[in-house]
Amino acid sequence: MQLLKDRIRKDGKIKEGNVLKVDSFLNHQMDVKLFQEIGKEFKRRFEDEEITKILTIEASGIGIACVAAEVFDVPVVFAKKTQTKNIAGDVYTTKVESFTHGRVYDIIVSREFLGKGDKVLLIDDFLANGKALEGLAELVKKSGAELVGAGVVIEKGFQVGGDIIRSKGIHLESLAIVESMDEKTGEVVFRN
Ligand code: G4P
Ligand code: NA
Ligand code: NA
Repeated sequence: MQLLKDRIRKDGKIKEGNVLKVDSFLNHQMDVKLFQEIGKEFKRRFEDEEITKILTIEASGIGIACVAAEVFDVPVVFAKKTQTKNIAGDVYTTKVESFTHGRVYDIIVSREFLGKGDKVLLIDDFLANGKALEGLAELVKKSGAELVGAGVVIEKGFQVGGDIIRSKGIHLESLAIVESMDEKTGEVVFRN
């Protein structure tokens, strides 16, 4: 998605440890007009699929998923992160390991909002090691719903997540795949 790549080049900041900061338009301050274009692009890429629900994960997936859900005209559910030992109530749960943050947390979705008959599209802002998407896919599986695919805004192509998700046979659409970034020159190289 050219508009997105241009914006990353213009406003993205490369930080130590191959971290791409997109705080000014994607996951702190949010450019909702850009989100609208992102939502429409996801819709184009999943044109031939029937989708009845969008599933994302808190926090920074929510804004994008909401705008996409309006374009798809379906409800949006976000998985909650929790570190509670005893998860009460009627929920699906699985563990997610964050390499970046060096911790494991549980993610949960109420049984009320996901189940058999749902055709689910996963949406997230970043795909790095793939643990968040794997966790969401696991929740979909546990619920008996059908996983249609996954849409991410920025895939870090030099990390393993994209390969893992694709090797599971999940239809993955990444709107910008960063192949490499140079902290010193500020250069970002995208995959074609
Ligand atoms: P994974 O889900 O792909 O395995 O991601 P990983 O554990 O490696 O990353 C942990 C968090 O860092 C995720 O957000 C992910 O979106 C985010 N992240 C990874 N690489 C980058 C990057 O280069 N730039 C930015 N801005 N974020 C990155 P989170 O902590 O799970 O959620 P949230 O509360 O921020 O949404
Ligand atoms: Na994030
Ligand atoms: Na995220």
